[in-house]
Amino acid sequence: MRTGRSGPKCLRLGVDRLLNKGGIVNRTAILGTGAAVPKKVITNKDLESIVETSDEWIATRTGIKSRHIAEDGETTSTLATEAARRALEMAGVKPEELDMIVVGTTSPDMIMPNTGALVQKNLGASKAFAFDVYAACSGFVYALTIADKFIKESPGKKALAIGSELLSSITDWQDRNTCVLFGDAAGAVLLSGSSDGDRGILSTHLNSDGCLWELLYIPGGGCIYPPSAEMAEKRDYCIRMHGNEVFKHAVRSMADVAREAISANDLKPDDVDLFIPHQANIRIMNAVAERLKISPDRVYMNIERYGNTSSASIPVALDEANRSGRLKPGDLVLLDAFGG
Ligand code: ACO
Repeated sequence: MRTGRSGPKCLRLGVDRLLNKGGIVNRTAILGTGAAVPKKVITNKDLESIVETSDEWIATRTGIKSRHIAEDGETTSTLATEAARRALEMAGVKPEELDMIVVGTTSPDMIMPNTGALVQKNLGASKAFAFDVYAACSGFVYALTIADKFIKESPGKKALAIGSELLSSITDWQDRNTCVLFGDAAGAVLLSGSSDGDRGILSTHLNSDGCLWELLYIPGGGCIYPPSAEMAEKRDYCIRMHGNEVFKHAVRSMADVAREAISANDLKPDDVDLFIPHQANIRIMNAVAERLKISPDRVYMNIERYGNTSSASIPVALDEANRSGRLKPGDLVLLDAFGG
């Protein structure tokens, strides 16, 4: 199954009068956020010398102006580790205190072991179990959902949910339809239980539609079409996409699942203080916000500087919003993703 959709996350960082009417509420709270990107930056102008494209086409069709691309030694696990360290530092938590590490990625260092296990090794998180979730651009939302369920079950434990990608390693640099879109990055959040009832994840909502798999997929590298010289020559280990179709489904499914999350919590779009959509295309984000009637000043966008970083895009944006002071105590945040 490739093409699907996944849903948003609401987390309230301050007093929640609507949902906590007297009873003790156990929620999963975000204690720290972190992000990491490679140093090297490739601008739209740089891409003009690689494929037949223009800064003007890329900027107007996607909102992207530059992206970070990994160099030798930088991998999905090294970026994930750096983002995780920053989240741990912010929370004042040591790696040895971690119980769980889950990484959303579609560009793991290796098929086996999973990227989470490599992050566990790098951090020295000896007590934590670790694994990956494989849900393309929705990967972080899936990782957060799983970690949320784990923490709700054991509120005293600590979990890292990470989104990390080296999309440059699965990008066809001869295909102008896709290579202008992607970037490399990682973002992480540190989670633990909170019983003060005034903060934490309110609900999570996931959906998939495997029938749409051919809109966005990687043909080679799996058991149907294993690695071979022919596969490498055709660059069939790279992302293939029907951009127009993905665009339409993305707008519809992101708006639908955001409405689902908002109404499941007896809230209104007006209550959302910050909407952080997956940073796939500025036009997709604007169209979803318009459908939800969320004003542009409440939509977080950084696609201009990073491109589409798949599962990393939401935690990177969340970390930026957090560290820059854009997020205030009491804010209601809606996270919303879709992906292959
Ligand atoms: N530079 C210049 N021209 C280009 C480029 C480029 N980089 N890429 C495509 N074109 C051309 C096309 O060849 C086409 O030319 P033609 O009319 O002569 O055939 C023309 O531009 C228009 O192409 P469209 O595909 O119709 O352009 P559109 O406005 O739909 O924009 C885009 C394309 C940006 C890909 C858009 O469809 C999109 O953002 N779709 C969603 C993609 C997405 O979000 N993917 C995320 C999933 S990633 C994941 O899950 C890992």
